[in-house]
Amino acid sequence: MRTYKIAAIPGDGIGGEVVGAAVEVLKACATRDGKFALEISHFDWGSARYKRTGVLMPEGGVQTLRQYDAILFGAVGAPDVPDHVTLWGLRLAICQALDQYANVRPARILGGIQSPLRGVRPGDIDWVIIRENSEGEYSGHGGRSHRGSTMEIATEVSVFTRAGVERIMRFAFDVARSRPRKQLTVVTKSNAQRFGMVLWDEVAREVAAEYSDVSCDKILVDAMTARMVLHPASLDTIVATNLHADILSDLAAALTGSIGLGPTANLNPERRFPSMFEPIHGSAFDIAGKNIANPLATFWSAAMMFDHLGEAGAAQRLMAAIERIAADAALHTPDLGGRATTSDVTAAAIGFVRGRNA
Ligand code: NAI
Ligand code: MG
Repeated sequence: MRTYKIAAIPGDGIGGEVVGAAVEVLKACATRDGKFALEISHFDWGSARYKRTGVLMPEGGVQTLRQYDAILFGAVGAPDVPDHVTLWGLRLAICQALDQYANVRPARILGGIQSPLRGVRPGDIDWVIIRENSEGEYSGHGGRSHRGSTMEIATEVSVFTRAGVERIMRFAFDVARSRPRKQLTVVTKSNAQRFGMVLWDEVAREVAAEYSDVSCDKILVDAMTARMVLHPASLDTIVATNLHADILSDLAAALTGSIGLGPTANLNPERRFPSMFEPIHGSAFDIAGKNIANPLATFWSAAMMFDHLGEAGAAQRLMAAIERIAADAALHTPDLGGRATTSDVTAAAIGFVRGRNA
């Protein structure tokens, strides 16, 4: 029997609640499947550890993660620790060190879920957003000097490399090609940003020439926000920079009903390093500890993890459970207008996974 080693990093706030729930569901999936086993290790990395020891992740943390087949992540961020300390100390430290350069974010309206957009129904939004996840605006280049003086200066340099842009474009075109509509929209801002974004466009055009079966269009990021709201059905696969896709994917999740429904895979497509799966939302301290966080984004991310591991049967069974929960308003958490708790949704998911024959 195959055994997969999974590193679970709940992090902060609702991260603990949704990852705890997902681990129970993952175990039920493995038992139901019967052909593979999971060996799940829990890591207490996050803000509490930072306050205790001065670091979010112990030295050698990334080396430890390299021994795992995949990582399931919750969220990081606490009200009393600066957000740039937590994000760079844990999530970005992992994504960059393990070269998880392709961030994949499906956004689809599930049956039974109401989009906030008037007249928009399941089927009208079925997108995959591909986020460049290693460079761009979040490459970590920049600095501050003359601190506190009126001459204080701060720079945040966007870094675009030909190699970095080319690999994410190829990845995005491959995803577009694998989907029925074979359509890719390249998001840019090359009117205002004349260097990095112009290189981005040029490389997109070069790579597009190798994918004559994929139709490709280009749109400025500001116009993209309006198109997502006004003409959602005109979009299919989308590729955008680290910052642009970060913003657009929260909008996408909200348009599909809730940020509590948005999943993510941070992939190292060459499989030299483990990939990491997480909901797109943060630690949501406003609802932490109340057992009302929607765990479906994390369950969906876990289904993507099964797919990545090659366990398509388990992925489908888990996805079917998510769809049955979405279809039943009695199982909706407050973010979807319901009264169900995280525990209710988790118990239902386990029941559906166990009960399904396929
Ligand atoms: P957030 O995503 O944590 O919350 C935004 C809003 O959505 C809140 O009202 C929250 O209650 C709601 N929400 C989020 N997830 C939900 C769920 N599963 N079910 C129901 N409602 C949900 O974003 P926010 O408030 O900007 O950030 C909070 C902290 O999380 C900050 O420290 C931020 O830096 C961090 N963060 C971490 C991320 C990560 O680790 N990947 C990603 C985004 C934010
Ligand atoms: Mg984000």
